[in-house]
Amino acid sequence: MAQTSQAKAHTMQAVALDKFGGPEALEIQNLPIPEIEAEEVLIRVEAAGVGAWDPYEREGRFVEITGTKPTFPYVLGTDGAGTIAAVGKDVNRFKEGDRVYGAELANPNGGFYAQYAAVKADNASLIPGKLTIEQAAVLPTDALTALTGLEKVLGLKSGESLMVYGASGGIGHLALQLAKRLGAKVFAIASGDDGVKLAKKLGADVAVDGRGDNVLEAARNCAPNGFDAALVTAGGERTVEALSAIRKGGRIAYPHGVMPEPNAPEHVAIEAYDGENKPALINRLNALINSGPFEVHVDRTFRLEEAAQAHEALNEHHLGKIALRIE
Ligand SMILES: NC(=O)c1ccc[n+]([C@@H]2O[C@H](COP(=O)([O-])OP(=O)(O)OC[C@H]3O[C@@H](n4cnc5c(N)ncnc54)[C@H](OP(=O)(O)O)[C@@H]3O)[C@@H](O)[C@H]2O)c1
Repeated sequence: MAQTSQAKAHTMQAVALDKFGGPEALEIQNLPIPEIEAEEVLIRVEAAGVGAWDPYEREGRFVEITGTKPTFPYVLGTDGAGTIAAVGKDVNRFKEGDRVYGAELANPNGGFYAQYAAVKADNASLIPGKLTIEQAAVLPTDALTALTGLEKVLGLKSGESLMVYGASGGIGHLALQLAKRLGAKVFAIASGDDGVKLAKKLGADVAVDGRGDNVLEAARNCAPNGFDAALVTAGGERTVEALSAIRKGGRIAYPHGVMPEPNAPEHVAIEAYDGENKPALINRLNALINSGPFEVHVDRTFRLEEAAQAHEALNEHHLGKIALRIE
């Protein structure tokens, strides 16, 4: 492996768990810099995304579901961005110094809440558009999940009408922009006045506050014959009510993790899915981002040592994403 002088240091700072638990289990530790295999790259991490699912992983619920045996210290962080510090011997696509972003769920090498992360080269990409390092860091999982939902699960076509439920959240605000780029008419159900303002700024044809009144009335006005499709990122009674505005023969998609799981009205197809993470889809995402102005909304940025506060902030109303800045 080709190594930079930086990577020749042997240890790094990381936020790691010695056991699964609450936010207080997240502690700064000095850990070995991960070694890379032939098909991996080492990234000097400058920012990490804080995923809505990170608390579940922190509590040990992922390993429960997947039946995997965790290794401690356990470093969280599915999403991140930074600079290539070293490339494995079979990697030709990257060179030292490239600015990249990437995602790897429950990475056995350790996640992005660290100064260095080793990921499969296939899961990394040059940063598209004019995104800042924080924007790139929070982007991959939610954007790939949005795109998987829109194209693969819903098969969204240009000219169709789409409801995005949770349109000011991580997946939602990206899905809204991607759907506009795919030629859809977008009805955005966002959270709060600030969420509605963001959704309008990002190009929603109509945006309403899903925590306010008259969502269904606004939906009927927007699509009198019902919407063709819906992408749902938050569950609950209000979600079920809003979904009654999907037309017969329409389609609903929601990523696994949305709770309570939404039900579909009669004669509407519904599918739970996982976002995909593969080179062709990452290229597609980058191309869509590069085709015009694209905003990745980072609501709050915390320092690495403030990871516990960042997790607590996930429970408070916020727009878009939360990031960690790593020096
Ligand atoms: N399976 C997969 O591949 C995959 C991948 C990524 C994420 N996920 C899961 O998908 C879910 C969504 O992820 P995310 O990153 O988009 O989470 P998120 O950022 O928390 O987004 C959910 C959004 O829904 C909003 N919301 C809640 N109730 C609402 C209502 N009545 N009206 C309008 N908006 C409402 C929330 O607003 P507030 O700020 O008001 O709460 C929040 O902005 C999570 O469960 C996550 O774990 C799954």
